Formats: sequence, structure tokens, C-alpha cells
Amino acid sequence: MIISNNFRVKLAKHKATEELVAIKIIAVPVDEDDDDEFEGVEVVDLVGDDYDDDDDDDDDYSDEDESNNQIQYEEPAALTITVEENTSRTEFKEKSKTSQPQQEPQKKEPNRNQVLKKMHFEVVQQEIMGLKHISKMKQTVKDQEGAKYIVKFIDVVEDAAKQKLNVVLEYISGGDLFTVIESEDFGLSEKRARHYFRQMVKGVEFMHNCNVCHRDLKPENILVDEETDCVKIGDFGHCGILKRDDSKFTTVCGTFNYVAPEVLAQEAPYDGRKADIWSLGCILFTMIAGIYPFDIEDDVQALVQQVMDVKYEFPPFFAPKLKDLIKQILVRDPDSRITLEQIQNHPWMK
Ligand SMILES: Nc1ncnc2c1ncn2[C@@H]1O[C@H](COP(=O)(O)OP(=O)(O)OP(=O)(O)O)[C@@H](O)[C@H]1O
Ligand SMILES: [Mg+2]
Repeated sequence: MIISNNFRVKLAKHKATEELVAIKIIAVPVDEDDDDEFEGVEVVDLVGDDYDDDDDDDDDYSDEDESNNQIQYEEPAALTITVEENTSRTEFKEKSKTSQPQQEPQKKEPNRNQVLKKMHFEVVQQEIMGLKHISKMKQTVKDQEGAKYIVKFIDVVEDAAKQKLNVVLEYISGGDLFTVIESEDFGLSEKRARHYFRQMVKGVEFMHNCNVCHRDLKPENILVDEETDCVKIGDFGHCGILKRDDSKFTTVCGTFNYVAPEVLAQEAPYDGRKADIWSLGCILFTMIAGIYPFDIEDDVQALVQQVMDVKYEFPPFFAPKLKDLIKQILVRDPDSRITLEQIQNHPWMK
């Protein structure tokens, strides 16, 4: 069933282990007519990427595995998941340079669907790269607790016949955090928000230690596991991989209500880790207030200005310690922003 604006996410079952999995399906832009426009984005490029080379992980996909070892998934007959569409959110995602059709003016312009297909394909490629990078790096991280709060990547299955790429993830049963917040009239209690926030901070710390920055942290991309009441950070489609400890990014990506001012400013390359911390502050505010800290409907310029000026108001019911923590996160200068370690030691977190 279709449950996402960009992708079809299906619930499926591993035939051998009976494990439930979520499969994100993306149509691959290799239609005959598309070949010229979308050169270099065939599925084979993806499955043979660097991250497979020195890894023996069972879940790595390789051509050799295909005949005898390919994991089989089937749709369970009785199970369905539904997710509400998020029409009210203002989102912007900078297209990567290669996805802009005007880059090759001598060729015929691909139609809108082709461009969207390719953009979505690139997002999925990015997601697979990020999740594989985390799988590869995770052994090197001392504190493993945060790994529990990141959606597990299981497999990539190419369906060449149907020109589809299936990204297999562990299935998380409770829906996304946005829906959880929406289901409460006035946001979550501080206690419940603290419980989720601690896990999010741990999860983000873990991914940063794996040299991955999420760059689109928001409640819609955080799933809640119904059974354990744990959060699972998902949707790594805009993640960035830190090649060195001091690597910075220039790509503007994220969602206005949660994106850091230094990302919007485009004055200089930004530190993806600091930008993720800003987004965490916006999520914390949203969880408890039930509204965004920065939100001006139908006026993107004004919203951007509001973020740049760090202009927001606390609801009257916010406790002093909570306000103090949020004030230390939503700091315009990324270098003066509180760190993940300091957040965990803040009195509100105790
Ligand atoms: N592993 C999973 N288990 C259960 N549901 C999932 C899983 N991954 C994604 N979903 C559902 O699909 C929705 C969209 O997934 P995701 O955020 O990864 O895609 P997206 O690129 O943001 O698509 P869109 O822009 O349309 O939201 C999530 O909000 C969630 O409800
Ligand atoms: Mg998403």
C-alpha cells in the first residue's frame, strides 16, 4: 500500500525467518526513453558501491548472492499499515546538481515524472549509503546504546524485471512521532517527551560517531516502536557522510521548521552535527508544545527570517529547566550551541 508521498512503503515478511520488515520501493529510472538523461544511475552502480568491498556482512547485497542466497520477501495477507499524509508541512529539498535537467541543454527535457523519479532514486541511494556506512562503522563505536534508536538496514533487493529497487528495513510498528504528537491535544507530557528525547539524543550521538549526519531530523522521520516504546530514527535520504572529523557540508537540506539558521544562511559550509542538534531542539519544543517553535504559514521568507533571528516564544506551561535546555540548543552561532554530551548532562534530562 502507498503510505508515503515519495515512496511506497510496504510491510513484508522474510520467508525463512518470518521476520516482519518494511520495504521502501522506488521505481528505477531506466526506462528505455530515460537512458540518455539518466546515464550512470543504473541499479548496478548502487549495489556495487564501495561499502560492500571490505565487508563480509550477511546483509550486503552482491551479484554472487543473487542465485543461491537471495532473501525472499512476501506480503503478509492480513497486515496493513496506514499513515496520514503530511500536507501541511513546508519542505524544501535542494536538488543535487546532477538531477537538474538543464545541465544537459542539448538533450530533450525529461518530463516532470522522470525528474521526480530520478530525484527520489538519488534520495534512496543516499539513504542506502548512509545506512550502510553506519553498519560498517558501528563496531568502532564504544557506546553502542544509541544503535537501538536507529532503524536497522537489512537489505537492498533489486527487481530488474519490474525496474524497482527495494530497500528493506526493520519494520517499526507504532507509526511516526509526528502522528503521535498530533494524537495529543496539547503535545506530549514532559515525562514522555524526555523519554523519547533521551533516546533521540543517544541515536544521533551514535550516528555522528559513525560519521553520519542526518540533516533532516523531524518527528515525521522518527518512528515509534509500539512494543518497546522506543524511538527509531529513520529516513536517511538526506544524510551526509563526514569524510574527516572536520568535514563540513554546503547542501541546503532539511525542513524549514527544523533546519538550522547556518544551513539556511548559506554563508559558509556548515557542521552537520551542529545542525542536527538544532533540529533536536526544534523537535523537543514541538513534542511538548504541540506546535513548532518557528512557523509562519504561507510565507517562506518570513519563516526563514524568523529562524535566522531565532525568534520564538515558549508556551506558558514550559518548565524553567526545559526552557533553559531549549535556549541552549536554539543558539544562532553553531559553535556556542550546546553539545550532545552537555544535553545529556543538563538538569532537565535527569
Ligand atoms: N521501517 C519502517 N517501518 C514502518 N514504517 C515505516 C518505515 N520506514 C518508513 N515508514 C513509514 O513511511 C513513511 C515515510 O518514510 P520515510 O520518511 O522514510 O520516507 P520519505 O522519503 O520521507 O517520504 P515522504 O517524503 O513521502 O514522507 C514514514 O513516516 C513511516 O510512516
Ligand atoms: Mg521522511
